[in-house]
Amino acid sequence: MTRIAHVNGRYLRHANAAVSIEDRGFQFADAVYEVCEIRDGELVDPTRHLDRLERSLRELRIRMPMSRAALLVVLKETARRNRVRDGSVYLQISRGQAPRDHAFPDPQLPPTVVVTAKPHDRAKGEAQAAKGIAVVTVPDNRWERVDIKSVGLLPNCLAKQAAVEAGAKEAWFVDADGFVTEGSSTNAWIVTRDGHLVTRPAEFGILRGITRTVLLEVAARLGLTVEERAFTPQEATEAAEAFITAATTLVMPVVSLDGRAIGDGRPGPTALALRQAFHASTERVPL
Ligand code: PDD
Repeated sequence: MTRIAHVNGRYLRHANAAVSIEDRGFQFADAVYEVCEIRDGELVDPTRHLDRLERSLRELRIRMPMSRAALLVVLKETARRNRVRDGSVYLQISRGQAPRDHAFPDPQLPPTVVVTAKPHDRAKGEAQAAKGIAVVTVPDNRWERVDIKSVGLLPNCLAKQAAVEAGAKEAWFVDADGFVTEGSSTNAWIVTRDGHLVTRPAEFGILRGITRTVLLEVAARLGLTVEERAFTPQEATEAAEAFITAATTLVMPVVSLDGRAIGDGRPGPTALALRQAFHASTERVPL
């Protein structure tokens, strides 16, 4: 099927969709993004994603290109035009197009807006969750402001590629003190042997994942104890279970870290129960 992208107010076939070579997103990664899940023809958690988007834009002093209501219409319309019932919608906003100069251009410059949508095979995700994934660790060599959802993702790409080359599905960044920060495109969690969920606090060092935030609510609803603290790769390999979260993976069990089995090397009951319970706590907006 022809894929359609929204580019600065127009809906175009991907073959005709383009931004300038002087776009600051291309030149400097001077841009932010969001990825929202689409499930059963509904947008999942749009309010939280738009809240985080506005925060990222504010932190980088990029203008909000249009109202939240208008952005929501564009997200839904792009998903609809691509006939996505299950998948994701991607939004990128750059500071705009200007002759290459490191300092910010005129603040009146219109930001560049690109939205794309793609379907995914839900059955494949479920089959993956039933098997669990392998993860490898890599040193966290990213800039310090990873709380901003910026498109400066080169270290994340290198980390994910290292995982793929090691036969794993995700890489966990490890900070200079030896603690796991997060995955290359996911947040990291473990379940201790006494059943407590552990995930790093979101103040700094990680992106405050929307899936993570919702899962904290789900955990409370299920009566699970959560410890927001850092953990080491060693603690993870000695834990009962581990898993990752993101809008794209949902709750995905991790069954090995750097080649060492976690728990009995199979997806754990807590991760699978959280995956099951997750959507009961999300906001859903029809396309
Ligand atoms: N990634 N940490 C990082 C570095 C991420 O890139 C992401 C999301 C997350 C989880 O955030 P959320 O729960 O809001 O999806 C954590 C998106 C999916 C991506 O880059 O494709």
